[in-house]
Amino acid sequence: MSDDLPQTLPLPLALPADGPAAAAAPAPGEGHRPIRSFVLRAGRMGSGQARALTELGPRFVLPYAPLPLDAAAVFGRQAPLVLEIGFGMGDATAQIAAARPDTDFIGCEVHEPGVGALLRQIGERGLSNLRILQHDAVEVLEHMVAPGSLAGIHLFFPDPWHKKKHHKRRLVQPALIARLATRLAPGGTLHCATDWQPYAQQMLAVIGAEPLLANTAPGYATRPDYRPLTKFENRGLKLGHGVWDLVFTRR
Ligand SMILES: C[S@@+](CC[C@H](N)C(=O)[O-])C[C@H]1O[C@@H](n2cnc3c(N)ncnc32)[C@H](O)[C@@H]1O
Repeated sequence: MSDDLPQTLPLPLALPADGPAAAAAPAPGEGHRPIRSFVLRAGRMGSGQARALTELGPRFVLPYAPLPLDAAAVFGRQAPLVLEIGFGMGDATAQIAAARPDTDFIGCEVHEPGVGALLRQIGERGLSNLRILQHDAVEVLEHMVAPGSLAGIHLFFPDPWHKKKHHKRRLVQPALIARLATRLAPGGTLHCATDWQPYAQQMLAVIGAEPLLANTAPGYATRPDYRPLTKFENRGLKLGHGVWDLVFTRR
């Protein structure tokens, strides 16, 4: 880390990938992103979630800052790092983090009750390899994640935005996938799952067209064992609904 970098944030900092100025000031055309992949709604917070937010939030929720995150300093070790986009209530996130203690995980979610729910699981399971960023994952990826720094990215059941007029809100678009690909280390994995077939088709076309990424399967992948079946998914599968996994690696 350079000694002359401004250190105005509570987080340990690493060198911004494209220089400090680039991290602070968006490049032309990247400035404002009016179309978001989520709509923030006031959600009901259970008392356990609220308590977890108060008691565990200060330790496990990282503040958003438009400067690259020093994961080794955050976790106190060097370990592969996986970023999850939109963990919802965090059930899969907590299960995966518990099953893979040698990997560190950062989950991004904007929905506060979900943050409370995952904090609760962090407390109940005693997870030390998981942190939360309550912020738009698109901005986190752009400003806080250095190129080549991730061992994996998880995007499980992103909002499908069914209506055509909302398709522009879908996360899986060429520009975001190109950015995701640069954040992966060579050999790192992008794992997406969806239960909405038209979105699965879009994912296959968009991710398949990204030159930095190689598909690990001829098309859709078999669900890797580490991704647990959610209650919702299980119910859907019993009703005959499909689920599509896509697993790509960074070349
Ligand atoms: C349909 S839910 C799926 C949640 C979870 N992955 C699952 O499998 O149950 C999608 C979640 O992504 C979150 N989300 C959408 N766009 C996001 C973004 N740009 N940054 C962070 N979270 C986002 C939403 O708030 C929502 O909780």
